Amino acid sequence: MSHISSERIPNNVDLGGDRKLQRALEEWQPRFIDWWKEMGPEGFQEDQIYLRTAISVEADGWAHFDYVKMPDYRWGIFLAEPTKDRTIGFGDNYGKPVWDSVPGEHRNALRRLIVTQGDTEPASVEQQRLLGLTCPSLYDLRNLFQVNVEEGRHLWAMVYLLQSYFGRDGREEAEALLERRSGNEDKPRILGAFNEPCRHWLSFFMFTYFTDRDGKYQLLALAESGFDALARTTRFMLTEEAHHMFVGETGIGRIVERTIELMKQNANGDARAEGGIDLGTMQKYVNLWYSVSLDLFGSEISSNAASYFASGLKARAKEDRYADHLALESTMLLDVPNADKTGCEPQEVALRNAMNEVLRGEYVEDSQRGMDKWNRQLEGAGVPFRFTLPSKRFHRASGIYAGLHFDPDGTILSSAEWDAKKDGWLPTEGDEVFVSGLMQRPIYEPGQMAHWIAPPARGIKGRPLDFEYVKRQDG
Ligand SMILES: [Fe+2]
Ligand SMILES: [Fe+2]
Repeated sequence: MSHISSERIPNNVDLGGDRKLQRALEEWQPRFIDWWKEMGPEGFQEDQIYLRTAISVEADGWAHFDYVKMPDYRWGIFLAEPTKDRTIGFGDNYGKPVWDSVPGEHRNALRRLIVTQGDTEPASVEQQRLLGLTCPSLYDLRNLFQVNVEEGRHLWAMVYLLQSYFGRDGREEAEALLERRSGNEDKPRILGAFNEPCRHWLSFFMFTYFTDRDGKYQLLALAESGFDALARTTRFMLTEEAHHMFVGETGIGRIVERTIELMKQNANGDARAEGGIDLGTMQKYVNLWYSVSLDLFGSEISSNAASYFASGLKARAKEDRYADHLALESTMLLDVPNADKTGCEPQEVALRNAMNEVLRGEYVEDSQRGMDKWNRQLEGAGVPFRFTLPSKRFHRASGIYAGLHFDPDGTILSSAEWDAKKDGWLPTEGDEVFVSGLMQRPIYEPGQMAHWIAPPARGIKGRPLDFEYVKRQDG
């Protein structure tokens, strides 16, 4: 078995000084590599990829860029620097010192939060494992792999917490994180969106725009945690997460740009006829990935969310923007389905029980920002179409709207109405075949771009667009 020195796992947690933890990670590492080779990017494990690697937590020098084979990527463990005399900023423990170890009474809840977050990281790598074979350019191929290796590092981050703070249970959870498989019926990943197939690059960009953004908000809420190691770990993960959402936002923006060009080339303004992705089809993928991502925030009315907040485990995003950190007196008005399921009625819910909805609300606002950018592109080109986010009630599989049907405006529908109309709102098998069909031939020549997407505004880290971001062994 290969020996891990502290240099092999870049870290700022003094791994070399903790023999027990080092041994635990030594046992886990080869299994991680096996998982990566089996479930990571298919077909590119021997190639040299121009990747960034986290090497410290300094704001200006945390990342190092160079060619690396993915299985040799140096997955490191980094916690943001501790804040001196930090205290818990919310809930019943407000003002008390943060915890340097796991309080016994919160052990199960914390483990559950960490495992749930940790499970999403390898899941997304599994969902995306075949996309390299249909990439629109070497630039995009490299970005896919950058996202993948960093999700791998996020798994390491959560496994570090499990191994160092949760003893034997933690070791078992660390193993289980490598055993579940996205989309597998017998051993699925924990959360729904992470079992959805991601068959093509339109879904990849929607996923990194919408689903990685859920990750951002979960991490922001955990970055406030009274369990200081969790707060510091998630704070550093957010640095990397920003790039994942950039990939999604600019990816969709580049498809919009190309679609506009193709519409102008066609007498009927038909981008599909010109080999592009029409705006209506893109809207369906917005509807899909946005709605499955809304589910990730958990139920609108949740006693779990209330107790996480009360005990100081998970706050609101950027808790210090709020004036009232106890949230005991306030309420939130929610639209709750009525008893006979013919519509929704406003209901006042204690704010602590509505914490999932508070976080989801911030996410909705943030999601709108990219939509506005794409709509400005359309406006600038004189195209009347506008992208919209569907109602929060649309196509929900968890929470108070699950099991009911709503149209994108939030109006309740019968099952028959839903069945008759849903193909106009969500991707059909035909849409999946059409979009995948545009992407059958991968583009591996430096500087070249697939027909359905515009080139990016600039390359990576000051490199030109025709830089060889991936050096292929058999290319
Ligand atoms: Fe992640
Ligand atoms: Fe991510």
